[in-house]
Amino acid sequence: MGSTPATTFRIAAIPGDGVGPEVLAAARRVLDATGAQFGFGIRWTEIVAGGSGIDAWGAAIRSEDVEAARAADAILLGAVGGPKWDDPNAAVRPEQALFALRGGLELFANLRPVTVHPALVPSSPLRPALLEGVDLLIVRELTSGLYFGRPSEERATSDGRVAVDTLWYTEAEIRRVVRLAFELARGRRRKLTSVDKANVLATSRLWRKVVEEERGRFTDVEVGHQLVDSCAMLLVKQPAAFDVLVTENLFGDILSDEASVLAGSLGMLPSASLGDRRTEHGRFGLYEPIHGSAPDIAGRDVANPLGTILSAAMLLRWSLGLEDAARMVEAAVAEALDDGLRTRDLVPAGADAGTLQLVGTTAMADAVIERLAIRWAAPRPVAASPG
Ligand code: IPM
Ligand code: MG
Repeated sequence: MGSTPATTFRIAAIPGDGVGPEVLAAARRVLDATGAQFGFGIRWTEIVAGGSGIDAWGAAIRSEDVEAARAADAILLGAVGGPKWDDPNAAVRPEQALFALRGGLELFANLRPVTVHPALVPSSPLRPALLEGVDLLIVRELTSGLYFGRPSEERATSDGRVAVDTLWYTEAEIRRVVRLAFELARGRRRKLTSVDKANVLATSRLWRKVVEEERGRFTDVEVGHQLVDSCAMLLVKQPAAFDVLVTENLFGDILSDEASVLAGSLGMLPSASLGDRRTEHGRFGLYEPIHGSAPDIAGRDVANPLGTILSAAMLLRWSLGLEDAARMVEAAVAEALDDGLRTRDLVPAGADAGTLQLVGTTAMADAVIERLAIRWAAPRPVAASPG
């Protein structure tokens, strides 16, 4: 500390809307603090996008900002959207920023890990016994399917209004995300569940064929196919049975919100969106919590920053090649939870207030940073003095 850091990473920060700026500021401070401990620097580039982009530029994101994001080592994003920009007839919508980044930067695989921190078991409405051993990873295809298929429009016809969306997948689009999911399963419990609707959809039948073709290259991985409706049921009935799930864009969107109930709150879950491109440090990627912009609680310092902080840990791991730093951040988050700190989304109804400490966004980030420093000073903290 004090001397010039050996490496300076470039991160594009996109605060977005609603609680986005608050949770992003929290994660940014955690990353800066991690850099101070590990001896690296971060050069931040801030990009205005989402509803804020519409207000500032008339577009959810400008193409020069997509290019600036591409030039960084990684992107950290808060959340976009809000009632102000919700007009269903509007030509520009905040979410277009996400699609421009995901599609434009070819970030085809969205990794959404779901684990249950033991201290948060009471925060989930599910029975504690069901949550034991839950450790799953949803790999969601992110740059095709219904989100990107054309046509996607409403038409006036003699039969009244008609709307069409297009579910489209090429073999190559399926193969690249399925391969990545197989590789990830190899690094875990070697179990892959491919989720589809092959009893109805042609795209799902192609998806299944590609999974079957790929399984020969990964004979050490156990593969199962699951229809998305029964998968939704099993995710709450026996969630611990899953390891890696791989699925198309919309199914992954829906199943990951469902799976967040296991973790106690949507506010806990991080995500990484990756493509094939590598920088000199790691895989280029976009990192964001899976929650939305929560406009109802924006600006009040009450949002849970842990989903974004854990996304920052994924950024350290995947894009900067700093596994130790990633684990240190994850351990500091776990410790803050063990010590009873809770943002309000994590406080179960009727909880014993005596054992939990209700904190806001800033205080939760402070607690994580404080525990990072303690961990750095001594790998196993003895007595963490409460701030
Ligand atoms: C997500 C979100 C987005 C999506 C919305 C905001 C467009 O729900 O990242 O899961 O559907 O992909
Ligand atoms: Mg979603």
